[in-house]
Amino acid sequence: MPKNKLTTKTPSKKPTKTKKQNQHLNAPSEKLPFLEKLDPEIYAKLQLTIREVIEKTLPKYKEWLNSAFREKIIGNDSSNGSLQNLDKVLVSAVNNSIKTAMGKALKEYDEQQGTMEKWFKMKFYDDVSDIRPESRAYYKYCVENFVTQFFTREKISGKKILDFGCGPGYFSKILAQRGAHITGIDRSAFLISKANELKQRLGLENVKFLQGDFLDFAKNVPSEKFDYIVAIDTIVSFDYCRQTHNHKDFTHALSEIRRVMKDEGRFFIIEAHPFFGQLAKGITLSKEGRFHGRLPNYKLADKAKDNPHHWFTLDEMTSALNENSLAICRIYEPDPSVELEKENPHLYRFYLKYPHLIVYEICKVKI
Ligand SMILES: C[S@@+](CC[C@H](N)C(=O)[O-])C[C@H]1O[C@@H](n2cnc3c(N)ncnc32)[C@H](O)[C@@H]1O
Repeated sequence: MPKNKLTTKTPSKKPTKTKKQNQHLNAPSEKLPFLEKLDPEIYAKLQLTIREVIEKTLPKYKEWLNSAFREKIIGNDSSNGSLQNLDKVLVSAVNNSIKTAMGKALKEYDEQQGTMEKWFKMKFYDDVSDIRPESRAYYKYCVENFVTQFFTREKISGKKILDFGCGPGYFSKILAQRGAHITGIDRSAFLISKANELKQRLGLENVKFLQGDFLDFAKNVPSEKFDYIVAIDTIVSFDYCRQTHNHKDFTHALSEIRRVMKDEGRFFIIEAHPFFGQLAKGITLSKEGRFHGRLPNYKLADKAKDNPHHWFTLDEMTSALNENSLAICRIYEPDPSVELEKENPHLYRFYLKYPHLIVYEICKVKI
């Protein structure tokens, strides 16, 4: 075939757009929400969302264009005026979708920051020196009591510990003061700033705090291996920000845990007992002083919707661990400290009778 035949240009049959139409397509979008406060990670995720929205929106509008719009609105009239309208509709639809996605991401971000600040103010004094009276029963006399009794200086001095979801660093500090080398990671910028203030104030040299999502952990701590990993009330509020406690994210976090844990290492999940969390909603106290409880939501898939906490059922927990060649080697259901008896005898009796704190000790399964 002669070459020139292939290269011969045929005039394009596509109608060329007028200057006015191009202006619509390139028109600067309406005022978009204020983005400066987003951190780079959230910004990157937002960009992905926007791309997804555009990818989803455009084909939908093209489809609409081809069917309904052409037949019912344009009909045989493909005059310039109708096409200009179409451009406007398209640009404003895309802009609206982007605005909605941005608004949603910002709302989630504000909610997460707000929730974590509120959580912090309820639990700790501003300088993280202690736990506030209203949160002491569970946090001090149950959680802290277990941590201090279990992680003795003899056990952890010189060991490398990862504090996953370290929050304001209250427990990292306790472990560091017993001679361990601590890496604390948390996704909340606010809580990490509190943790760093605490570190500076107490001159803790054997602690480093990292702000980041545990799901991107590989980026932050690629090669360290830890003797112990602790997640204190973290798994129960895992992925707080997105409020989607899905099995896939949890398994991904567990695969990261396995990767950064020494072969003989141990991973401790320390948190409110799954029976307690759900039970607490149904508790009544009879005249005789007996507690009656129910487990109304224990197995409901939508239990996270109205509650930022999510208790994995025992079945979910063990199957996610198994998938990652991890296994529970022991479960502890510790009693509260006797100090609680002096402060709140009623609650002390309650905690002695009902499950409130659970500790899963998890080890690697050899593969
Ligand atoms: C209830 S707080 C507990 C904080 C701390 N362990 C304590 O007991 O004081 C749970 C923490 O887990 C963090 N978190 C939840 N999901 C996370 C994730 N995917 N990556 C990093 N941190 C996360 C939250 O930001 C929050 O600070």
